[in-house]
Amino acid sequence: MKVFQKSTELQKYLLEINELGGKSVGFVPTMGALHEGHLSLISISKAKTTTTVASIFVNPTQFNDINDFNKYPIQIDLDLELLLNAGCDVVFIPSFEEVYPAGTFEKIDLDLGRVGSILEAANRPGHFEGVIQVVKRLLDIVQPDVLFLGQKDYQQCCVISKLITHFQLPVKLEIADTVREIDGLAMSSRNMRLNTQERQSAIKLSKALFHIREHLHEQDLSELILEQKELLATDPLIHVSYLEAVKQVSMEPLDILKNNTPMTLLIAAKVGEVRLIDNILISSSQTLKIPEIKEV
Ligand code: PAF
Repeated sequence: MKVFQKSTELQKYLLEINELGGKSVGFVPTMGALHEGHLSLISISKAKTTTTVASIFVNPTQFNDINDFNKYPIQIDLDLELLLNAGCDVVFIPSFEEVYPAGTFEKIDLDLGRVGSILEAANRPGHFEGVIQVVKRLLDIVQPDVLFLGQKDYQQCCVISKLITHFQLPVKLEIADTVREIDGLAMSSRNMRLNTQERQSAIKLSKALFHIREHLHEQDLSELILEQKELLATDPLIHVSYLEAVKQVSMEPLDILKNNTPMTLLIAAKVGEVRLIDNILISSSQTLKIPEIKEV
């Protein structure tokens, strides 16, 4: 496994190995603190492309809360070991200056519209602007054929899809299923900050999502959502910031289940001091596959 800190060296290497053409590069951007979710992206990339590049960069511009940034877990040595074991080919670990040369914080001129203003965006002002800024920069450096993202960050997937479409970036977006702990908790780098009690409470987020999906055929969606919000509110460790169903891809509001309308049910909550997000896909037939998000 090759590790690069400089973009020019990474680009030179990728050009060299593709001297004869015919290679395809899969890219898995991360902020480190890797877990099974990231590693599943590596293995999907390995199956679908010839060279898998992962990046580790904790991007300060996407944190609207400086405490969150300061507390973000850093474990580079362990991450490198995990990537090596997962068979990752190349790791890019740029410095801040490498990603933002000469200290520029130039934001991308792109109106994200609805997906950039609701739910996560409303709760974390500036977050998605920071995400598209860094993802655009990383895509420009790595120039992958396929970009692999996890469905757990559903709104992020929609926003990045919009970025790709808007700038007509020559990259295909692949979205992989959320990887869950055995009890249903969506894997996240933030889970390691939960204490034992909070970890127990955190299970309730995915339970609420699955409960709603399971009971949709017998109960009204908005009623189910309200009930689950009330139930979650009885846990003093949990503070729900939203639990909402939206139309898939456009993320338009939706509170009645219309036939065959593919929906995503999203939740964000603070469990103790740790903010967690999760989502599941729903359709009235409940047989939906993850769509490839194109234009949003
Ligand atoms: O999902 C993440 O870890 C980050 O938002 C990403 C895509 C690596 C950009 O910093």
